[in-house]
Amino acid sequence: MTVTAPSRTGARVERLPLARFTTLGVGGEAEVWFVSDHAQLTEAMEQPYRILGGGSNLVIADGGVLERVIRLSGPLAERDLDIDPELSTDDELITGWVGGGVPLPGLIRALQKLGLSNLEGTVGIPAQVGGAVWMNAGTRYGEMFDGLHTLEIATPEGLKVVTPGDLRWGYRDSGIPRNHIVTRVRLKLRRSTPEAVLEKMTLADTARKGQPKMKTPGCAFKNPGGMGAGRLIDEAGLKGTRVGNALIAPEHANFIVNLGGATAGDVHALLNLIRQRVGVPLELEYELWPAELEGSGHPHMVPQQGVQPE
Ligand code: FAD
Ligand code: EPU
Repeated sequence: MTVTAPSRTGARVERLPLARFTTLGVGGEAEVWFVSDHAQLTEAMEQPYRILGGGSNLVIADGGVLERVIRLSGPLAERDLDIDPELSTDDELITGWVGGGVPLPGLIRALQKLGLSNLEGTVGIPAQVGGAVWMNAGTRYGEMFDGLHTLEIATPEGLKVVTPGDLRWGYRDSGIPRNHIVTRVRLKLRRSTPEAVLEKMTLADTARKGQPKMKTPGCAFKNPGGMGAGRLIDEAGLKGTRVGNALIAPEHANFIVNLGGATAGDVHALLNLIRQRVGVPLELEYELWPAELEGSGHPHMVPQQGVQPE
């Protein structure tokens, strides 16, 4: 671990392997800026940057990335779930600010205990709030935009406060431009009971019983036009295909898992193979860092060696 030049606003800056920040467990080094307030964030955004959340949707190159990697921490990773009486009505309860760096699973558990409903459909998504909002992460039981009142977003032009009505959001898409950083949100919730919220969480949890338990960045592709990407990849006969130490999961074909020691190149090769073999155009749900590696003819991406169909 190397400590790089200090930040003038007091951000912690360290050169670190990014693999440890991702659920896939892959990714080389970058300069990581841990920012805990808006001044630090503004300084971090002065040079080319990327924003890292829970790392649960990322495939990062083994050589890392050149840009600064910003991680929200301190107060930007804290939550105030007190209901704001001035903004709330009987039907809509509006919370204080919830930081973009807050882990989503803990937030969902806390809301369940308080008997507050609207976001329980997102149970089981291992994201941070900012990343989940940016992707509008969800399941068929609900998505992040079901429970958002206000979003605070840091942009290269400055801080903006918007409402969902200002954005063109949809399935796995918030409409927020890349590298605009969701710093904090206020939640819009409904009064329920801990038991009723838990019941809905159990339904959503049951729907993911068939998903693999190994290191993975979640579903590789979005579901195209109502069809299941997993089913399409399965029907193409690709379940169990392995490149290097990455595997198309036998449990669910839209998941690529790291068997241990997988490289980003292994994962890229499987993504290319899937696109070649499935007859329908598939849109990637993962973020590839850097994106240029996709389809670039990177030597690791040619799936000639080590492909072992089931
Ligand atoms: P990261 O993976 O860190 O980043 C993803 C993208 O979000 C990057 O472009 C990043 O720059 C951007 N980003 C991160 N933080 C911010 C921020 N504060 N402001 C702006 N942009 C930001 N997804 C679903 O939708 N539904 C599921 O059911 C689901 N299940 C999953 C299950 C498993 C086991 C795993 C590993 C993943 C699953 N995912 C699911 C995928 C993933 O959790 C979501 O895509 C999630 O939204 C990623 O959030 P993150 O904080 O981890 O973001
Ligand atoms: N299926 C197959 N073969 C497979 C996988 C699935 O035939 O290998 C079939 C299933 O039998 C089922 C259908 O495809 O009939 C749908 O599968 P599933 O219920 O697993 O849902 P999904 O559409 O594959 C979506 C989300 C998941 C989310 C689950 C649960 C997308 C791309 N995926 O999966 O989200 O957790 O529903 O709600 O929208 C993610 O986005 O990263 C993610 C994991």
